[in-house]
Amino acid sequence: MVKIISYLGLIVWAQLSMSAEGGTKLMQANVDIANTVSLQNGAKLFINYCVSCHSAEYMRYNRMAKDLGLSDDMVKKNLMFASDKIGDTMTIAMRPDDAEQWFGVRPPDLSVIARSKGVDYLYSFLNGFYVDSSRPTGVNNHYYPNTAMPHVLWELQGFRDNHGDAYQTSSDGEMTPVQYQQATRDLVAFLDYVGEPAKLVRYKIGFWVIAFLLVLFLVACMVKKEYWKDVH
Ligand code: HEC
Repeated sequence: MVKIISYLGLIVWAQLSMSAEGGTKLMQANVDIANTVSLQNGAKLFINYCVSCHSAEYMRYNRMAKDLGLSDDMVKKNLMFASDKIGDTMTIAMRPDDAEQWFGVRPPDLSVIARSKGVDYLYSFLNGFYVDSSRPTGVNNHYYPNTAMPHVLWELQGFRDNHGDAYQTSSDGEMTPVQYQQATRDLVAFLDYVGEPAKLVRYKIGFWVIAFLLVLFLVACMVKKEYWKDVH
């Protein structure tokens, strides 16, 4: 018995110390993958700012086109690099070996990153860059200290100091803080979708299942009333 209790105590302690170690509290992503406009915007940002270094090997352009309500032509014109075929997966624009040499770490494939790290983490990470001149990239990250990834969205967000304020008035980005949060939310929603495209189908089916159950419930109530009306 004592053994069991001390074992349980150990687990609780391990959990507590783990969450304490987590340090910085994550921001809430609040993504809505049922919102197609948000997913489309996320796809655009992903293609423009991320696939130069990261791949999404499990995602095909034509599948994305279908799921996000875009025509193949639209995707070809606006979201693909010239050499890609519509049935191709989202591969990286530079050679992975080069990437590794330049950054010291290979930028990971982002197909299932939302599942492995969670949407709140991704959102926090993209909002967590701040100026740190001791780093080779000139920036550091609150949620991934000493990350090798540069602040690739700086044009949009501008540079921030480590309190989240504009680093210098001249370092403002193209977007207001609220717009930047929305943009990164869309991007994370897109990564969430990429991690599990079937989620979209499930969401749609889920709606009809609930609707069906509600109708069934009403019918059942009516039938019950009918059956019992002569009993009392
Ligand atoms: C210039 C190259 C480059 C671009 C562009 C880039 N990244 Fe990265 N990214 C990296 C590198 C390098 C790493 C590995 C960082 C490390 O492990 O320290 C990384 C890591 C990551 C990680 C993993 C973080 C973790 O906790 O393991 C995520 C998520 C990520 N990038 C998202 C993005 C998104 C979203 C974009 C587009 C907005 C993007 N990256 C654009 C180079 C890049």
